[in-house]
Amino acid sequence: MKFFIDTANLNDIREAQDLGVLDGVTTNPSLMAKEGISGKDNVLRHYKAICDIVDGDVSAEVIATDFEGMVREGEELADLDDKIVVKIPMIKEGIKALKYFSERGIKTNCTLVFSAGQALLAAKAGATYVSPFVGRLDDISFDGIELIEQIRLIYDNYDFDTQILAASVRHSMHIIKCAEAGSDVMTGPLSAILALLKHPLTDSGLATFLADHAKSANK
Ligand code: G3P
Repeated sequence: MKFFIDTANLNDIREAQDLGVLDGVTTNPSLMAKEGISGKDNVLRHYKAICDIVDGDVSAEVIATDFEGMVREGEELADLDDKIVVKIPMIKEGIKALKYFSERGIKTNCTLVFSAGQALLAAKAGATYVSPFVGRLDDISFDGIELIEQIRLIYDNYDFDTQILAASVRHSMHIIKCAEAGSDVMTGPLSAILALLKHPLTDSGLATFLADHAKSANK
């Protein structure tokens, strides 16, 4: 399973990249706003800065909600760097834009997906990635992981190439459950990735090893 980091924070992206397990980055307008990035030139510069840090795909979301606007913005984003994946919302005009970009070999990520039907449409339109929002479904008492399982079954039934990118991942158990469900990619915050490291028996075991080593070295 590929690990993407879901942030526009350059320090977090650098830290994940330095760890050596990062396969890409996803952003959205809320994450850009959280970093105080606004204005077209600043936004484009920021995406370029992210591309310069990471080796993998970088999702950059369009703001337009009409087909022509999405195409215009998406082409401008895609021209920035080969790593850019144009992120398109799951709306009617978005489906047309997914088709447009897929016919031209431009990578896409269909975002704000909350049902299997939406995921099926995104795959039919040729999306490179589809982003079901696991955490936001859990928030409203639906099972986000169950949706990943459902999409996995459908995509495997028909050999769709679209990759399942589990989004709105909030913690390490989400990552593990997405891996069990066969998600191709998960995107989450740095905290969720780092939480995978943690086990109390690792900490106490290492403390014992180091204490025993120190004792025998002092003999
Ligand atoms: O990738 C989508 C993600 O940014 C949404 O996450 O935690 O706001 O639901 P969250």
